[in-house]
Amino acid sequence: MTGTLPFRAVYHTPDVYDRVLLPHWFDGAEDTGHVRALMHRCYGPAPASGRMRILELGCGTGRVTAALAPYASSLHGVDSGAPMLDVFRTRYPLATTQLADIAAAVECLHADGERFDIVGAFWSLSYPIGDCFEDLTTDGIRPRPDLAAGVADAKVLVRKIVDLLAHGGHLIALFFDSDAPEQRVVTRAWERIAPFPGTGRGFGRETLLAALRDAEEDGLGRLTHFRTGGLSVAPDPPTAIDWFTIVHLKSMPALVDDPDIRAEIEAFVHQHTIDDGRVLLPTGMHLIDFWRTPRTSHLPNDSAGTRGVDP
Ligand SMILES: C[S@@+](CC[C@H](N)C(=O)[O-])C[C@H]1O[C@@H](n2cnc3c(N)ncnc32)[C@H](O)[C@@H]1O
Repeated sequence: MTGTLPFRAVYHTPDVYDRVLLPHWFDGAEDTGHVRALMHRCYGPAPASGRMRILELGCGTGRVTAALAPYASSLHGVDSGAPMLDVFRTRYPLATTQLADIAAAVECLHADGERFDIVGAFWSLSYPIGDCFEDLTTDGIRPRPDLAAGVADAKVLVRKIVDLLAHGGHLIALFFDSDAPEQRVVTRAWERIAPFPGTGRGFGRETLLAALRDAEEDGLGRLTHFRTGGLSVAPDPPTAIDWFTIVHLKSMPALVDDPDIRAEIEAFVHQHTIDDGRVLLPTGMHLIDFWRTPRTSHLPNDSAGTRGVDP
């Protein structure tokens, strides 16, 4: 499948994403299960009729949206991949959608004074944050010369996302774990083209967390963050290799045609293939939850910290 796909086909060619995406398991639950559990903890069981305004940034085909949608009175999906939004609309016909870059959409929503009870961003914030540090095109990676300016831009973006939250609202984000073995293979591949900015491949996540800690320090809410190990599961080695080349390497010719990179991926896949032929790739996930709530909500019996949405 790999050789014929154009750069970034995973998000810009119909049907590719859902076909190549591997299930990810973390302690017996998929990523969707972890988001569902968080929603349940924050807001109780999914109601018969939702009353929350929900925004999803990088909504893709609406896979994780399923964990949020039952709580929604309105659902707005943003994604820069037209084929992704086509699928999203078939799954959530009542939703509004915006074919846009996350940064541009946030800017617009922010300028319009929009507020949401939930902002979801599942495996998607690495892109607009990464764009603050470098331009990625089929020809390669062009770093922005001023790293500090990139960090400042990324922090402004994150603060605007926090500003979109209504009182009591949550920003819920999933972010890949750059330190997990699966991602270390990916990092080594991309580093053949250019070094990652700042501290390396985890810099985008670190910048996001730093911006959310700043927001916490400014009294805007409370950050909870955990990392868990897990597995991406492929039914067989060729499917695992497609996962690396199409999703992780974005079908970028300079990477997928490099024999050393291919050899490393094949060896890694072989190392993690078990007796029944499945491939269990060691991966990891960061679950990030920013709850827009007053500082006093830490105190016992503080009514300002009541979980829930604005009446
Ligand atoms: C890894 S997929 C995750 C999709 C979905 N959230 C999920 O978990 O299945 C990343 C999504 O972000 C979108 N995306 C990537 N960069 C983007 C950007 N700068 N602005 C808007 N969407 C972007 C892609 O088109 C894709 O749908």
